Amino acid sequence: MTQDTLKITDSRTNLTYTLPVDKGTVRALDLRQMKTSPNDFGLMTYDPAFMNTASCQSTITFIDGDRGILEYRGYPIEVLAEHCTFLEVAYLLLFGELPNETELKDWVYEITHHTMLHENTKKFMEGFRHDAHPMAMLVSTVAALATIYPEARNIHDPANRLLQIKRLIGKMPSIAAMSYRHSLGFPYVYPDNDLNYAENFMNMLWKMVEPKYVANPVLARALDTLFILHADHEQNCSTSTMRAVGSSHADPYLATAAAAAALSGPLHGGANEEVLKMLDEIGSKQNVSGYIKKVKEGHGKLMGFGHRVYKNYDPRAKIIKWTAEQVFAITGCNPKLDIALELERIALEDDYFVTRKLYPNVDFYSGIIYQAMGFKPEMFTVLFAIPRTVGWLAQWQEMLTDPEQKIARPRQIYTGHRSRRFLPIEKRALVGIAD
Ligand code: SDX
Repeated sequence: MTQDTLKITDSRTNLTYTLPVDKGTVRALDLRQMKTSPNDFGLMTYDPAFMNTASCQSTITFIDGDRGILEYRGYPIEVLAEHCTFLEVAYLLLFGELPNETELKDWVYEITHHTMLHENTKKFMEGFRHDAHPMAMLVSTVAALATIYPEARNIHDPANRLLQIKRLIGKMPSIAAMSYRHSLGFPYVYPDNDLNYAENFMNMLWKMVEPKYVANPVLARALDTLFILHADHEQNCSTSTMRAVGSSHADPYLATAAAAAALSGPLHGGANEEVLKMLDEIGSKQNVSGYIKKVKEGHGKLMGFGHRVYKNYDPRAKIIKWTAEQVFAITGCNPKLDIALELERIALEDDYFVTRKLYPNVDFYSGIIYQAMGFKPEMFTVLFAIPRTVGWLAQWQEMLTDPEQKIARPRQIYTGHRSRRFLPIEKRALVGIAD
């Protein structure tokens, strides 16, 4: 098959170049040959926020944003959400294939037996104020685990990487639950190895004085499904952070802490918490039109709407809406659902949102479910970080084992001063910008 190519003529030199086109991309480094003189650095690409730049080749997650398709290792998210458990999907994301019964049983055993936290973790937690945001506690505590497992720095040893991966997947719910209990002043609850991943998380969150916690199976399954939906999403902001930090060969705990920090932003994983604040601010269905008018006038964004890749309905949002019905059948319907449905109805008909291809994303309905299940809004992004840890680690491992990858270090276009004349302080005029 003949190689696809791109012919470029540089009007500065009238030279024509032929660049190979591979998988719909041209290599940025192929532009460097385009110079105006032998001393010229050569051309670069300029792509603030990486709107149109592939940073890696990956086989983990496929998204077709125009058609609203999401697949993990080639399996449609809808199929996985209906038929798998979260740990089964975690195995798929990390190892590339769905496990058989024996493999899944062994994998679940391994993760279950890595849920316990070092007792020192309690001391980290005690250092936080009672009203500390759980995401800040989670980021800090995950980073602190690097002090407990210093051998994690040996990132080139596959067995060592796998051990740390199991520890992080097992311990994320324990850290999350510990931060929640700390905020309430409740005693911490130890993991119960008889329970599955979601049930054990609920146990560590909500067990009080009963001898053994019994999770509502519908709510546990709903949480497990939400974990599946949030597990990975190719090169999003937090995953790109995981890859960038991991590319310097930092240990996986510090890289995961950095990724969680990126996720905490309100434009990313923090949006689910912002959606609830927005619905509270709107207050009733009657106020929805007025709120949308304000957004269209440029006063804020419709949180839980829009996506860098999806220019169609986020497939995860559809499954979350279905999951909401299962949860509300148990918990009673969250009154905010009516406001959210009205917001969606109006926005999907409004030209402002239609022309910008703004649809509900994964965060639009998830918060309403979490609140109905009893979670405080501050915990919503933590509920995103727990499953996304699997995606971060799968992408981290793929980056480390990709021969094309090296330390991430973008270039820049420098637009500042050059070679300025230095003045001693007594001769400097008032700058007048620091106040
Ligand atoms: C997640 O990347 C991932 O995969 C993320 C994620 C994952 O699983 O990892 O899917 C999870 O982060 C989902 C997104 C959660 N964030 C929110 O819901 C916050 C609200 N959404 C926006 O901030 C925004 O839509 C982003 C950040 C999600 C995407 O922003 P882009 O791609 O940079 O798009 P943009 O800001 O350039 O917007 C294009 C236009 C602009 O209008 P104009 O300047 O052209 O007039 O659309 C407007 C924006 O103002 N716009 C919105 C809007 N989102 C974009 N207007 C109102 N409300 C919004 N939500």
